[in-house]
Amino acid sequence: MSQRPYVIDQLISAKAIAARIESLAREIEAEFSDTNKLVVVGLLRGSFVFIADLVRELDLPIEVDFLEASSYGDGMESSREVRILKDLRGAIEGRDVLVVEDIIDTGHTMYHVHHLLESRSPARMKTIALLDKPTRREVDFKSDWTGFAIPDEFVVGYGIDYAQRNRNLPFIGKVRFTETA
Ligand code: IMP
Ligand code: MG
Repeated sequence: MSQRPYVIDQLISAKAIAARIESLAREIEAEFSDTNKLVVVGLLRGSFVFIADLVRELDLPIEVDFLEASSYGDGMESSREVRILKDLRGAIEGRDVLVVEDIIDTGHTMYHVHHLLESRSPARMKTIALLDKPTRREVDFKSDWTGFAIPDEFVVGYGIDYAQRNRNLPFIGKVRFTETA
């Protein structure tokens, strides 16, 4: 797929992300200090870097599982229709669950995933998103923890892609097109 030329401007440094994850980890440890049956569920593919850093900060006995939901395709607009492409490997009934997402935009993905997982009767379910674009919300969904609220910009890096590229950048950057369409 051919792309309009763009550059990436840094929005959140790797250092700022690491510091924020440290403080979020302390809050998550406090919430789940009473359990030894926590499953940390990463939403593929965008959360893979975040979940890797987050779980290494957590001083808790955890398991890790992954779920893949589709919404975007290769474009910049959410399709609003959420499909499960890869389900969890394990059952979550009676377990404590922390769902880890890269970014909440319209809210459709997390709304859908939250309802799906609730229907499996976990003991307790909490959500964390590294990034949130609150001004873009179309359905009512509020994450229990958020790393950073950001303006309505298309971002990449730290696991997050534009047309599958830039996931390997160590920081969060915003995409700026260098030619008008
Ligand atoms: P939502 O369903 O509209 O909330 O979209 C959530 C999903 O869209 C996220 O899991 C991301 O994969 C993707 N997404 C939302 N905003 C961005 C962005 O700025 N850059 C890249 N992907 C994004
Ligand atoms: Mg995603």
